[in-house]
Amino acid sequence: MYKLFLRPILFSFEPEKAHLITFWWLNMICKIPLAKNILRSFYVVENEKLSREIFGIKFPNPVGLAAGLDKNALLIDEWENVGFGFVEIGTVTPLPQAGNDQPRLFRLPDDKAIINRMGFNNDGMKVIAQRLKNRKSKIIIGGNIGKNKITENENAGLDYKKCFAELYPFVDYFVVNVSSPNTPGLRALQEKEPLMKILNQLQKLNSVTEKRKPLLLKIAPDLSNEQLDDIAEIAVNTALDGLIATNTTISRENLTHENAKETGGLSGAPLCNRSTEVIKYLHKKLGNKIPIIASGGVMTTNDAIEKMNAGAALVQVYTGFIYEGPALVKQINQQLLWQQA
Ligand SMILES: Cc1cc2nc3c(=O)[nH]c(=O)nc-3n(C[C@H](O)[C@H](O)[C@H](O)COP(=O)(O)O)c2cc1C
Repeated sequence: MYKLFLRPILFSFEPEKAHLITFWWLNMICKIPLAKNILRSFYVVENEKLSREIFGIKFPNPVGLAAGLDKNALLIDEWENVGFGFVEIGTVTPLPQAGNDQPRLFRLPDDKAIINRMGFNNDGMKVIAQRLKNRKSKIIIGGNIGKNKITENENAGLDYKKCFAELYPFVDYFVVNVSSPNTPGLRALQEKEPLMKILNQLQKLNSVTEKRKPLLLKIAPDLSNEQLDDIAEIAVNTALDGLIATNTTISRENLTHENAKETGGLSGAPLCNRSTEVIKYLHKKLGNKIPIIASGGVMTTNDAIEKMNAGAALVQVYTGFIYEGPALVKQINQQLLWQQA
């Protein structure tokens, strides 16, 4: 239904407008009990065999919504109605910020891809925390946190700590995002020294809370093997609970669409293989000690299965959801069930 009717309508609008329309639709549908139940009957696959216990959290199914789609936790009560087992909100920064100038989001339909240079546009940690406080659904929420554009890298640790403290009561796990290509200088924080500093500061804060929350790190697909070795070492030394591999790429290999010239992070099909390679590499080094959440180019059930075979414990989708709709989430869950039958 999505690909036949909704996608052609949505794709006739400029991408950010389409995003707003989708949010409005989903919100409206979920307000009408009958419509919500029909939606659930289409897309939700409920089966105990799909559940996974990862870093002490029981996920009802292993397919999540990746960070960036619901940055501001606007539809937190709605996502489970289209089949997701968990949702990652953010990236959240301490202060609200507008992000980069528009246009900053581009479809590349021939390549089944998106380029974005949003720049962490979000309502800021206080507004988002309040929204999470008022939520009704029990869906598992990851809080993806970052620094404001105006914060110098040497003070970044404080921004991450502020977001951690503010969101702590309302999220189930945290993700430190140092891998977005759209905040100038952010990816320099993936270097050993600044990264260790930020993660150690957060773990210190975590250790004095009532109950430790799992802390994960989201990494870029553009790291070299030496840098991935460093990440693996840092993950162990800072007692990380998990890694998310990967964020968007700055690479522009094998693209055909004219929007390939746009700057920003590339997501979707062209990212899939590199992202899986990173998972494989890290899983080989870390085994099951540090679970990996796959993100990057999951456009089909096969992509999701490949990522799990490469060592991912859970998968997330963003661009696949834009191109394939919620049927993708359902199909991955169904395929996983059939494999276990
Ligand atoms: C428009 C857009 C905005 C995004 N914003 C964020 C963000 O704020 N924080 C983050 O960690 N990742 C962000 N991402 C990256 C996604 O979470 C995901 O890691 C990436 O797109 C690769 O997955 P995909 O190929 O399924 O889209 C964004 C992606 C897109 C397309």
